[in-house]
Amino acid sequence: MRKPLIAGNWKMYKNATEGAKLARSLKRSLRDVKDREIVIAPPFATLPAVSRAIAGGNIGLAAQNMHHQDEGAFTGEVSADMLLSVGVGYVIIGHSERRQYFGETNKGCLEKITKALGSGLVPIYCIGETLGERKRGRTFAVVEKQIREGLAGLSRTDAKGVVIAYEPIWAIGTGKTATPQIAQEVHARIRGIIKELFGAGVARAVRILYGGSVKPGNVDTLMAEKDIDGALVGGASLDAKSFSRIVKYVS
Ligand code: PGA
Repeated sequence: MRKPLIAGNWKMYKNATEGAKLARSLKRSLRDVKDREIVIAPPFATLPAVSRAIAGGNIGLAAQNMHHQDEGAFTGEVSADMLLSVGVGYVIIGHSERRQYFGETNKGCLEKITKALGSGLVPIYCIGETLGERKRGRTFAVVEKQIREGLAGLSRTDAKGVVIAYEPIWAIGTGKTATPQIAQEVHARIRGIIKELFGAGVARAVRILYGGSVKPGNVDTLMAEKDIDGALVGGASLDAKSFSRIVKYVS
């Protein structure tokens, strides 16, 4: 059985004081949740404060990006070891905002995924099509390329450790969620590609999250779909009450 994973991507919101406050409140309201993996991804500068706030609880810490090299003259970048040293256990890789505004490519994502896996961080690899691509009937082709290139050459053991987040770009921050049927259709296709590349065992084990305007009001029906194993939540993860409700979805 795949353990559901609900992750909150705070993007560039909340300073250290605000972040620690939100984290403390989530720690309280989610302390009894055992059957779901819970992760929050605050901005780099606030990771230590948030890490202290959730210490000893059941919430994991993610970074929103990282560099694939150990260290070096890469101004403005952060390494896997630095993340590990402040309690980070997961890292979001290739979020559409990184691809769109910072030129990230599938190939660059593969380097980061490889580094994350080698360092003991769980990569959350984001993929998804634009509205134009969907309208042109290119959705499956786009996600297939993102998977083939982003996971190229990984061993089966490594592939099993990757979490995939399907986030249609037209649904991110727009209030337009993919219907559970649309999401399920793409998730099933993604699992099929994983099966072709890494075999049935890996395909059964890999968790595929849905992201894009997940809210307390739509999470239950999304999570009822058989290939949706969790959610990557942006806007609604910035409020303790709404993120807690999402984590405690009923399906
Ligand atoms: P949203 O963002 O929930 O605000 O649409 C999702 C994401 O970008 O991960």
